[in-house]
Amino acid sequence: MKTPPHGLGTRLAHGALAAAVILQVGSSLFMQVPRADRPANLAFEMHETVGALALALALVFWAVVILRIAGTDAGRLFPWVSGVRLAALRADIVAHWRALRRLRLPPYEPEGSLSAAVHGLGLLLVSYMALSGTMYLVAPQVGYAESGVLAVLMDVHCLLGNVVWAYLFGHAGLALVHHFTGGLRLGEMWSFRRKPLTVELSE
Ligand code: HEM
Ligand code: HEM
Repeated sequence: MKTPPHGLGTRLAHGALAAAVILQVGSSLFMQVPRADRPANLAFEMHETVGALALALALVFWAVVILRIAGTDAGRLFPWVSGVRLAALRADIVAHWRALRRLRLPPYEPEGSLSAAVHGLGLLLVSYMALSGTMYLVAPQVGYAESGVLAVLMDVHCLLGNVVWAYLFGHAGLALVHHFTGGLRLGEMWSFRRKPLTVELSE
């Protein structure tokens, strides 16, 4: 079975960020945002703390993507400025569309352009969520609590909250489907052993 080996740094950053995002969307269901007439509740305090932590974890993930030697090429995660990569992405979208029209599950491709580009968008999405939320957290301390820009950033934060749900279910759901139909091994991304699973298996 051939899956791309994700290094320990990638697997740790991914696992920690995924856990933080799950806590964030979970807490958003129960939290009471503080207003003039009502205080924050525990779920909101958790959303603040884990959200700020999520920003640190997202930055670690970015650092891993930029600095790592093995793993998915940064250009596959962010193909938007390369004509060659965009052409490969278009071809992959067409291949997916053809399979779906025949009511077939597109096969798992370790080198697939579409899945990598969606992963890159997911990382950008949660980075925006964590950054905008942390700006909202820090703004009152630096005298920008009433800023109009901040209000817009937080409106977008709320709108994109729905996209985070969709990404989480779509991404994790497809990973599970590909795991059970063959091709992808969940344990490869979710194992925190020093060596990637694929390397161990081939030894
Ligand atoms: C990865 C990090 C984060 C994720 C995934 C996330 C996700 C969400 C989601 C799903 C909602 C609900 C939107 C809705 O249904 O209306 C929300 C709302 C909110 N988040 Fe976050 N959040 C993150 C970080 C933060 C941080 C660090 C703060 C800082 C305080 C924060 C503050 C808020 C506030 C104030 C709201 C409610 C806004 C309103 O209803 O007016 N978030 N967030
Ligand atoms: C919202 C939280 C999550 C974010 C932001 C996220 C982000 C990412 C990113 C950026 C990658 C690509 C890593 C790389 O190639 O270097 C990736 C891969 C992966 N993710 Fe997530 N992920 C999240 C949650 C999950 C969850 C809950 C699962 C559990 C099923 C999961 C399973 C996987 C797997 C199996 C891969 C490897 C795919 C492959 O090798 O083709 N992710 N994820």
